[in-house]
Amino acid sequence: MAKQVKNPQGSYTIMTELVLPNDTNPLNNLMGGRLMHWMDIVSAITAQKHCNRIVVTASVDNISFEHPIALGDVVTLEAKVTRAFNSSVEVHIVVKGENIPSGKKYASNSAFFTFVAVDQSGRPIDVPELIPETEGEKELFDGALRRRQLRLVLAKRMKPEDATELKSIFKLDTIDKGEKE
Ligand SMILES: CC(C)(COP(=O)(O)OP(=O)(O)OC[C@H]1O[C@@H](n2cnc3c(N)ncnc32)[C@H](O)[C@@H]1OP(=O)(O)O)[C@@H](O)C(=O)NCCC(=O)NCCS
Repeated sequence: MAKQVKNPQGSYTIMTELVLPNDTNPLNNLMGGRLMHWMDIVSAITAQKHCNRIVVTASVDNISFEHPIALGDVVTLEAKVTRAFNSSVEVHIVVKGENIPSGKKYASNSAFFTFVAVDQSGRPIDVPELIPETEGEKELFDGALRRRQLRLVLAKRMKPEDATELKSIFKLDTIDKGEKE
């Protein structure tokens, strides 16, 4: 049977939170763990919308916190599926902060999460295909294969020699003979 086809907009999810005292560290900034929890939720909702299935978090790529989010600020998390593979989808999450009284808006961080759609017994199950539409979506779609190979190699689920996309970046299939170019 042909795979169902969906676009990224269909599962786009936006989540808004207010940083309360219980969410903060001793510097009165949002704790990283709380933010990662919200990122996991918004991206899981997005993945579920795309897959129409239960999903589990398979991996989280590197997260770095570029800008602290202060107590009382508003956090906006936007999530979009970038690419669907067999049973897995990659989701891109962008986090922004906003101090409403001053009108200041700032970028906080972004990350890629991978979810796997599973059946009631927890076995991976096929997901609908994703067709990107905008230029930004196409760029994220193209990069997703490279990111997938990198995370699978790091998780020891793919041999480095099978990571064709990475090989082309690092030119791993050419032998360095020590000659200057
Ligand atoms: C994720 C999980 C379902 C994969 O199951 P598995 O039996 O190893 O399945 P497979 O080897 O057939 O892989 C299934 C998919 O998972 C992907 N996957 C597995 N490990 C991965 C990882 N570390 N990073 C990214 N993707 C991964 C595979 O690439 C494959 O994707 P594809 O079908 O799109 O090609 C399983 O490892 C699991 O249940 N993990 C625990 C999840 C969990 O508890 N998360 C936290 C709470 S939600």
